[in-house]
Amino acid sequence: MDGNGRWAKQRGWPRLVGHRKGAERVKEITRACPDFGVKYLTVYAFSTENWKRSTEEVLGLMALFARYIQREADVLSAEGVRMRFIGDRGPLDPKLVRLMEGIEARTASNTRLNLTVAINYGGRDELRRAAIRLAQSAVAGHLDPAAMTEAELSANLDTADLPDPDLVIRTSGETRTSNFLPWQAAYSEYEFTPVLWPDFTPAKLAEILGGFGGRDRRFGGVKP
Ligand code: IPE
Ligand code: MG
Repeated sequence: MDGNGRWAKQRGWPRLVGHRKGAERVKEITRACPDFGVKYLTVYAFSTENWKRSTEEVLGLMALFARYIQREADVLSAEGVRMRFIGDRGPLDPKLVRLMEGIEARTASNTRLNLTVAINYGGRDELRRAAIRLAQSAVAGHLDPAAMTEAELSANLDTADLPDPDLVIRTSGETRTSNFLPWQAAYSEYEFTPVLWPDFTPAKLAEILGGFGGRDRRFGGVKP
């Protein structure tokens, strides 16, 4: 979800106005996904690198996440959305973490759409945390390090309960992946669109999904 800052700047508004508009887009896209047959939606809200931004922007984003959870809880529950979070919760405000845990518990049995929000998420950090857990379990004698499988590594990532993404969309014209699901997206299709996130609509998503449907995915194999 890139481009909130530029969208605001183009209008001479503070960056946080762009983030607020971006949060509105998340609501619309979340609502549209089940109609498009999308069962899993993961949005990258805050990376482990985003702490480098000004205190004002970081605190503004954190307040926006808390407000989003509080305001959307009823709607998400009623619409059958299961909400989960990935990323390291350690450095987050305990009040925000309690809200996150609350909505995860409250929506745990919903199945219409799986919405995952990445907050303080970084792919390298996720792999680092998984490596610590695996090393600890090897030291404790529960795991033979030489026999470790890809499945065991996957099971120790934040996304243990989620399927790998089929399609990764990045908005705002940047063509990099910025630490987003590096392990999980090894065979994902990518779409880079110049549209800034606050201008990203369900119609644009439908257009991208249409293109995705026509792609030839071989996963390293050959079509007979
Ligand atoms: C949103 O866009 C991404 C978040 C961290 C929420 P940006 O804030 O990165 O917007 P640009 O790149 O400055 O336009
Ligand atoms: Mg950006």
